[in-house]
Amino acid sequence: MTRIINEIDKKIFLEEKCFIPTMGALHKGHLSLVKLGKKSTNCKTIVSIFVNKRQFNDESDYDNYPINLDKDIELLRKEKVDYIFIPNENYIYPKDFAEADGIESGEKGNLFEGAHRPGHFDGVLTVVNRLFDLVNPTSAVFGKKDAQQLYIVKEFFANKRNNLSIIEAEIIRDEYGLAMSSRNRLLSKSGINIARNIFQILKKTKEHFIQNQDIQKAESFGKELFNENAIEYDYLNFVDPKYFETPDKNHEKLLLITAAYVEGIRLIDNMELIQ
Ligand code: PAJ
Repeated sequence: MTRIINEIDKKIFLEEKCFIPTMGALHKGHLSLVKLGKKSTNCKTIVSIFVNKRQFNDESDYDNYPINLDKDIELLRKEKVDYIFIPNENYIYPKDFAEADGIESGEKGNLFEGAHRPGHFDGVLTVVNRLFDLVNPTSAVFGKKDAQQLYIVKEFFANKRNNLSIIEAEIIRDEYGLAMSSRNRLLSKSGINIARNIFQILKKTKEHFIQNQDIQKAESFGKELFNENAIEYDYLNFVDPKYFETPDKNHEKLLLITAAYVEGIRLIDNMELIQ
């Protein structure tokens, strides 16, 4: 039976748990993380729903962030998760939580997403660390949709929590390739159609690179496609996923990452390239 909890008691703290942190407004992408957690571990599953203000650099983005708690609970009950953890703000950030308790994500947190969303990854690491402290999970599932977040979380916790395993989940897309996102529900029907071009642009940029083996040319080609489709974008870059940096000639793999705006809603996506 699924239990809804607002706090973690000692018994739950000590149980072996697979943890799936979310900000709610759940969709098939989130549910795939729950399924993967269940499949990969024999542990209890705990899903948190907490819209973390600290990771929003844009106040109106936070104010407009979709909330759908009743539906979320219904979906998670269907998945038979053991605990739905819905903390309030004070439990995560009590009065004695000082600014100094916040975590700085450093160099990698200031690139790409971080360059356009100052402080975002500091906020993410701060809340994930706090949630890990409270929940004490043995494993945690994160999606590849947020590739830089996954990279930064893995790097940061690798030496800090050596008993914790991070499980990576593939990107879940709709039938036209649009990556599932809570923010998609802020789009109109025609906005959804426009947003579906992002996947096509990633695919065509990747194909351009495969044919020409020139990163800069492929990036320029992809940016031109954004312009042709009248989609505003923050960045479109190939990175070396091993370091989450601009690739040098020694790279083994490439990851194509992007952030774009449709109807004023910021959407991110990425595509792997294995050569
Ligand atoms: P949120 O955007 O709710 O996402 C929760 C988890 O679901 C993340 O690990 C994210 O990568 C994954 N996810 C979202 N859409 C996905 C998709 N289409 N396919 C696969 N996985 C997907 O990411 C956050 O919340 C927050 O930053 C959080 C980690 C909870 C910290 O506040």
